[in-house]
Amino acid sequence: MNIDQIRAEVNAAQKSEFISLLRSTERDGVENLIDYLENKSDFFTAPAASKFHNNFEGGLCEHSLNVYRNFTGLLQMKNVELDEKSIIITSLLHDLCKCNYYLKEERNRKVDGVWETYTQWTTNKSPALPLPHASRSIKMIKSYIPLKFIEELTIFYHMGPYGGEDYEYRNMMQLAFEKYPSTILFYLADTMSSYVDEEITEE
Ligand SMILES: [Fe+2]
Ligand SMILES: [Fe+2]
Repeated sequence: MNIDQIRAEVNAAQKSEFISLLRSTERDGVENLIDYLENKSDFFTAPAASKFHNNFEGGLCEHSLNVYRNFTGLLQMKNVELDEKSIIITSLLHDLCKCNYYLKEERNRKVDGVWETYTQWTTNKSPALPLPHASRSIKMIKSYIPLKFIEELTIFYHMGPYGGEDYEYRNMMQLAFEKYPSTILFYLADTMSSYVDEEITEE
């Protein structure tokens, strides 16, 4: 079995784990959301990034499952309570805005004086919803399923200090982190997944 076949098997197993977890929430509209993910979007083949962590086909699904495991672990470690269904929904869907967002482009480069063609991930510069990362995910999720307040808050601040530079954003983020500790644990789980668990694939 070669590396591509192994990756394809891993992707299939992760897709099936992702769908059964999401289905287990029994949230209103979840079946329509699963249909969108499976049949009307590139969610299960999309990378998690173009140049950073998990920049390979299936990377987005794997990243979402990594966040689920890290978030669960951090909540247990710090004895912070959060409903299992909210853990699943926030972890699996926080980066939904990355659906139909990454494109593969052919580029040319010179290696040892010889031109060669290679493929590289790039981003859609004009997504259908012109909203920032976290707000775009929230808007997309809510077009399929309702979100509880804590879930929306968790997804809204999942980028932590990288989600916004203005004074108001930073102030409100700090307040949310102090009042709802699961929100800062989610930011940490996302960061841990990206920087500790996941790798960058060189083209
Ligand atoms: Fe994100
Ligand atoms: Fe993420």
